[in-house]
Amino acid sequence: MTRGTSRVVEGAAGATRIEIAASILDADLGSLREEIVRVAAAGADRIHLDVMDAHFVPNLTFGPRTIRAVRDATSLPFDAHLMTSQPGRFLDDYLDAGCDSITIHVEIAEALQPTLDAIRAAGRQAGLAVKPGTPLSALDAFRGDLDLVLIMTVEPGFGGQAFMPQAADKSAGARGYLRPGGRVHVDGGIRAESAGTAGALGADTLVVGSALWRSADMRHEIGRIRAIAEAGRSGIRPTFPA
Ligand code: DX5
Ligand code: ZN
Repeated sequence: MTRGTSRVVEGAAGATRIEIAASILDADLGSLREEIVRVAAAGADRIHLDVMDAHFVPNLTFGPRTIRAVRDATSLPFDAHLMTSQPGRFLDDYLDAGCDSITIHVEIAEALQPTLDAIRAAGRQAGLAVKPGTPLSALDAFRGDLDLVLIMTVEPGFGGQAFMPQAADKSAGARGYLRPGGRVHVDGGIRAESAGTAGALGADTLVVGSALWRSADMRHEIGRIRAIAEAGRSGIRPTFPA
């Protein structure tokens, strides 16, 4: 059961359109369904679900039951970013909750391949995430085998942090680990000021959280961030209204 997985949409100059995945971590979690409806209506392409277990990262958020509870709020793809130490142990719960992609961290001790295989066997997209300090070589065993590589440009655990450009440098090299049609997601600190750099360095999908929830006009912010990133990718110096 997969809803709209990564759509390869032709954008400028034949490149695929840069997608915006809205991270709900800094949304009003007391009105999560309404927030998802709002960000979907504002033009987000995907919903990014930051699951944290207070073990792999020093924060605790929500789990599969919350995801299931809001699954029918939108038909947009749900991307689960599991910042958890044992994603394989609870994988079926995330599959049953309706996640279209599931990304686990390469840094965990749990075996990765069985979980990646199980995600794909369920017809979903399987991804690996790397923290800022983790080199891409940590993914070498999975070269050409991933639907999604998530490049973290903040230390995982919290929204609202500053973008780490040196971490984004890995985006171009990440492409070599993808299956055909796979995408590079860049996650953390993405806002108007950093989107140009993220686009120039090779992001296909930008995960944006606090910049959306803090904006007075979410639709404008999504459009502005996407345009700046696409300009960055095509080498145009962005001159966009504030
Ligand atoms: C951090 C999460 C990110 C982050 C994005 O651990 O993985 O998705 O919340 O939020 P902003 O855009 O505020 O950095
Ligand atoms: Zn995330």
